[in-house]
Amino acid sequence: MKNMKVVNTVADLNAALANTPKEGVGFVPTMGALHAGHRSLVERARKENNTVVVSVFVNPTQFNDKNDLKNYPRTPEADCAILEAAGADIVFMPTVEVIYPEPDTRQFDFGLVDKVMEGATRPGHFNGVAQVVSRLFDLVRPARAYFGEKDFQQIAVIKAMVEQLAIDVEIVECAIVRGEDGLALSSRNELLTPEHRKAAPHIYATISQCAEKMASMTPAELTAWVVATIDSNPLLKTIYFEAVDARTMQRVEKWSDSERIQGCCAVQAGNIRLIDNIKIK
Ligand code: PAF
Repeated sequence: MKNMKVVNTVADLNAALANTPKEGVGFVPTMGALHAGHRSLVERARKENNTVVVSVFVNPTQFNDKNDLKNYPRTPEADCAILEAAGADIVFMPTVEVIYPEPDTRQFDFGLVDKVMEGATRPGHFNGVAQVVSRLFDLVRPARAYFGEKDFQQIAVIKAMVEQLAIDVEIVECAIVRGEDGLALSSRNELLTPEHRKAAPHIYATISQCAEKMASMTPAELTAWVVATIDSNPLLKTIYFEAVDARTMQRVEKWSDSERIQGCCAVQAGNIRLIDNIKIK
């Protein structure tokens, strides 16, 4: 195993990356509290790049809820152990001041992709994601960056940002990693009460039936069925479910509206907000 470097400043990151051609750099941005889903991103980056950089930074500008930011799990030592085992070369763990020496006042507009679903229910969230990811891309200058499909809409927003800012990076989409009970792995799962953790697999058990149900339902009927089925568990409350075009994130009215349709949902489980998605068509 190579020696993994942990750096906290821009100067140390630059020193660690000195003489490393951009072409060989793969980057995995994370907010830490790493799990097997993150590990799969790092392992994929390891296979496809000479140098793998991982950032661990809980970005305050993407939290629209102060309590969510305060309670977000932080496990830096465990993260480093996972990253070393997964084959990361450089771990960038900056402070807020390193990422934002001045407040980032940029306001992005990505058209329709960031206005629906997460964008509509978490005001400012995607603006904060675009701020931090563009800053991290500037600092790391990767050829490829790896994102998990659990945050399906986030990938669409980041692709729009890359296009708008003309950033030279390939966005690599990686499949959702699920627990044995089907729950999509998420750092927030650790914050669920035991009762809500037991209830949470009901989300995937429901949405995994979407592709089959579409044969006998319109998108609106499927949406109503998903919401009623998830909410039949008293510990879960659907915030939204939408059947959307997988590129534009816009709701489809008919199954023939798009070649590629994804079902995306957010569900409140006690104090914790979970998201998940599934390919419908
Ligand atoms: O998906 C995440 O963990 C975060 O939104 C990201 C991309 C690391 C930006 O903070």
